[in-house]
Amino acid sequence: MDVGLLGTGHYAPENVLTNADLEKMVDTSDEWITSRTGIEERRIATDDIDTSDMAYYAAKDALEEANVSAEDIDLILVSTVTPDTPFPSVSCMLQERLGATKAAAMDVSAACAGFMYGVVTGQQFIQTGVYKHVLVIGVEKLSKITDWSDRNTCVLFGDGAGAAVMGEVSEGKGILSFELGANGSGGEHLYQNDKNHLIMNGREVFKFAVRQMPDSAVKVIEESGYKKEDIDYLIPHQANIRIMEAARQRLGISEDKMATSIKKYGNNSSASIPMALSEAVKNGKIEDGDLIVMVGFGAGLTWGAIALRWGR
Ligand code: ACO
Repeated sequence: MDVGLLGTGHYAPENVLTNADLEKMVDTSDEWITSRTGIEERRIATDDIDTSDMAYYAAKDALEEANVSAEDIDLILVSTVTPDTPFPSVSCMLQERLGATKAAAMDVSAACAGFMYGVVTGQQFIQTGVYKHVLVIGVEKLSKITDWSDRNTCVLFGDGAGAAVMGEVSEGKGILSFELGANGSGGEHLYQNDKNHLIMNGREVFKFAVRQMPDSAVKVIEESGYKKEDIDYLIPHQANIRIMEAARQRLGISEDKMATSIKKYGNNSSASIPMALSEAVKNGKIEDGDLIVMVGFGAGLTWGAIALRWGR
């Protein structure tokens, strides 16, 4: 059975925080942020919007695009490192709010690679015939764990959500190959401290990402029986334009074939790939039959990549 994404959706909070705004908060400059990261602005959710609210809006959008009703969802998987509360899970909150009465629900914790982990998990349940429809969401309210006095990290992150409804697709479409990986020895480079703040050794994460992202992308494309030049659209984790550019150049694909939502959203951790994917579908950048590669990396350290033939 071929398993793919039947519909995607996303939600970005309205409130925009620009680089000029950050210049007033910490010792930084628009020039530094743009040239080192590619980020021009990011969205920050207001106090009345928590992680589960953003997840709900993205999920509704994806269900509508997929033309699947909430009652037909068998499993909800939410990838987040910033849940409303450690328990109940965001996925259980959603199960109730969406009216997904028969769905099982659990949260997945693989940081920025979490959406990849969620989609691959969903694929296993559908392929084995256990479930028919799985709803996967990547969502983060990183603003609540950001140290707004630390210029090394506070300029990088933003809030948002992206979602996908998974199910059976026609032969030759859907997920062609995947890779998931972890290396816990790199955990010290990116973690949450006892003040609940995100702490990052940017240089170490950069070194890891610049190697891992292209390696994983090449691996999944080769395993799927295609070549780098066959890729129609690349959706890398939106963490730093320089890391993304390194991956793009190693794959030898043109600029217009890579998602760059980082400019306006910053790094949304596990939400970044599904947000970029949903936007690309809505903007017509991804069309039926396109070969797409999604690749992410994050705290853990974790990574994941998926090669997918778009369409139902
Ligand atoms: N404004 C101005 N100067 C700054 C800022 C800032 N916002 N932040 C750091 N600097 C300074 C540093 O203090 C340093 O100064 P020094 O040389 O006097 O010590 C200088 O700029 C250079 O710092 P570097 O860390 O070398 O800068 P670099 O070019 O490596 O860029 C960055 C830093 C953007 C964090 C980069 O390392 C990076 O993107 N790393 C990867 C991060 C990542 O991918 N995270 C993804 C996983 S996290 C997640 O998704 C949840």
